[in-house]
Amino acid sequence: MSINMKNTIYIAAVIFISAIMVSCNSNDAPNYQYMPNMYEPVDYETYGAYEIFPGEQSAMLAVDGTIPRGWEPYEYENSFDGLSQARADLKMPLDVTEENLAEGKELFTIYCAVCHGDKGDGQGILVKREKFLGVPSYADPGRNITEGSIYHVMMYGINAMGSHASQTNEKERWQITMHVLNLKAGLKGEPLLEPVKEITEEVDGMTEDIISEEEH
Ligand code: HEC
Repeated sequence: MSINMKNTIYIAAVIFISAIMVSCNSNDAPNYQYMPNMYEPVDYETYGAYEIFPGEQSAMLAVDGTIPRGWEPYEYENSFDGLSQARADLKMPLDVTEENLAEGKELFTIYCAVCHGDKGDGQGILVKREKFLGVPSYADPGRNITEGSIYHVMMYGINAMGSHASQTNEKERWQITMHVLNLKAGLKGEPLLEPVKEITEEVDGMTEDIISEEEH
């Protein structure tokens, strides 16, 4: 047999076998499944429809009161009363340290200064360009801004000012609060927050920074 002839037979055989295989394939009947548990889960599919679930959907909302990992519940309500309560009662849990003050200043520059201005006088770049109006000075006597009220308005926003709770975490919001308190004091000519002294002590031959408690 010539090489050409061999090739022709070979090609014909491949076409014939392929044709048989394709003709046995049907979209209506499932093919043979090897280890079917890999394809057909025993548990519920994430977005499957099952009678047992409300609305027949396996995808359901989290139970009431569920909180995301790392999220600290905030007990003051998003209302005028909530703001008044926070203004009076909510206190800063962080120590005033050089580090917290520096971080707070940096975060304030990122998130707040465009409206409130670097000095907190309500003259941010957006206000100067008349893109945003009604931004108060932190020294506005009518507002009586306190550590609690600063934190509260970052959580929920207030009127034209939006919430900053998704951009910042709890610690960052308190660091920003420290800086705002300092800006307010600066505008009113009052003394700034006094950072607690960090004492360096030798412990087991290692140097550790210890923050003195009595200054807080
Ligand atoms: C888009 C502009 C804008 C940004 C950004 C912004 N604010 Fe405000 N803020 C306002 C406006 C406007 C008001 C006045 C709202 C009102 O009472 O009508 C206000 C009010 C406040 C008050 C006074 C609330 C009170 O007790 O009356 C505080 C404190 C404050 N902002 C802090 C912040 C801090 C901290 C940030 C950054 C995390 C920030 N703001 C970011 C626009 C802004």
